[in-house]
Amino acid sequence: MKLDIKNDILIQSIEHSNLAHTISRVDGDMELIYVNKAFLDQTGYEHAEVIERNCRFLQGDGTDPEAVKEIKRALLNYESLDIEILNYKKDGTPFWNRLRMSPVYDESKKLIAYIGIQSDITLIYEQNRLEQDRQKLEALGRLTGNISHEIKNTLQPIKLMSEMLNDWQSMDDKQIKRCIEILNENVTLANRVTQDVLSFSRKSSEELEKMNTEDLRKDVSLFVKNLLHSRLKFLKIIQDKPSDEDYFVEIKHNHLHQILINLVNNALHAMDDKGRLTLHWHYEDVDPMKATEMGIGTGKYLCIGIEDNGHGMSEKNMESAFDPFFSTKPVGEGTGLGLSISYRIVKEWNGTIIASSNENEGALFMLYIPVKH
Ligand SMILES: Cc1cc2nc3c(=O)[nH]c(=O)nc-3n(C[C@H](O)[C@H](O)[C@H](O)COP(=O)(O)O)c2cc1C
Ligand SMILES: Nc1ncnc2c1ncn2[C@@H]1O[C@H](COP(=O)(O)OP(=O)(O)OP(=O)(O)O)[C@@H](O)[C@H]1O
Ligand SMILES: [Mg+2]
Repeated sequence: MKLDIKNDILIQSIEHSNLAHTISRVDGDMELIYVNKAFLDQTGYEHAEVIERNCRFLQGDGTDPEAVKEIKRALLNYESLDIEILNYKKDGTPFWNRLRMSPVYDESKKLIAYIGIQSDITLIYEQNRLEQDRQKLEALGRLTGNISHEIKNTLQPIKLMSEMLNDWQSMDDKQIKRCIEILNENVTLANRVTQDVLSFSRKSSEELEKMNTEDLRKDVSLFVKNLLHSRLKFLKIIQDKPSDEDYFVEIKHNHLHQILINLVNNALHAMDDKGRLTLHWHYEDVDPMKATEMGIGTGKYLCIGIEDNGHGMSEKNMESAFDPFFSTKPVGEGTGLGLSISYRIVKEWNGTIIASSNENEGALFMLYIPVKH
């Protein structure tokens, strides 16, 4: 017996495929004119219950109306579509349906039907969700571990100093003064850790301050210099404002300091405290194309950059650098919140942070802050 490839084999393979197949007409309400056995098995319906009905009977309360709109739009434009949509079986059980749809044309290019292939991807969805939950728990565990470690690091000297001060009569003024200094330093450090965690868990609703960029320039370079002490060579590149006009930015002054502390500490860590740190300061006009690319508005921006010539970042680490809890530092040396908090803060000022880096060549983190006249 000779098999007709076009008809017999194609029909048999669709009929017995373990992927659900549906074919609908193009006119009327696009009712189903064919469904295979896998479709009936997947949805729990009988053949007679689905044939000559539009496939929307699979949708229900939890189905995203936007997904339905997307299907309708594709059908009206004769486009193929690959979409994930929440559907319901006959007994009401919800399932995630990966629906692939295409228009079917005859030899004279006339549209004759739509074909839909449905696969139940609920299990994959569940696995992804479980994996995400696992990652979140892991990150939370890492975070609490790091926070406890950092707080403990500050508590030990606090305990030691207070024990020593119990016996203050036997100490000279210099020793007492040093003890109090150490107490103060460690309380400030512990405060920074809790501050970091707090900034991460709530959105700041504080009012922004209007600041003159000339005043800010002096403040920022002094602040960065003080952060460095004499730890490394510090090179400053400052390109002054291009005109005599007064420029302003709307920011939160202490938040900018918080960002600079993190960027400078990251840079110092990447250079192992030896190397060259560069502070960039210039203005840039962001045109519509660049603005779309960077996810900010068009206009003039103040750019403040911290550049180092340390170990830099691999492409993979660059992708995750701004993710909360992402850190390549050993436990206790970083919570992985620095960059994600900094990014969130600058976003609140309608700006952004752009990172660029080459492995083994260093990194540059550039803040873009919108300028007002
Ligand atoms: C061949 C074919 C198969 C379809 N399969 C599904 C499906 O499995 N699940 C679903 O939710 N919608 C499916 N649809 C989409 C709906 O039938 C309908 O087109 C969609 O709900 C948009 O139209 P409406 O806004 O009029 O409901 C399919 C459509 C066609 C043409
Ligand atoms: N200048 C840099 N050079 C190389 N890698 C960097 C640099 N800045 C950040 N990174 C990478 O990005 C990661 C995330 O930085 P982020 O500031 O968010 O967290 P952290 O410094 O690890 O911890 P935290 O700032 O919370 O103490 C770092 O662990 C590091 O891998
Ligand atoms: Mg950091």
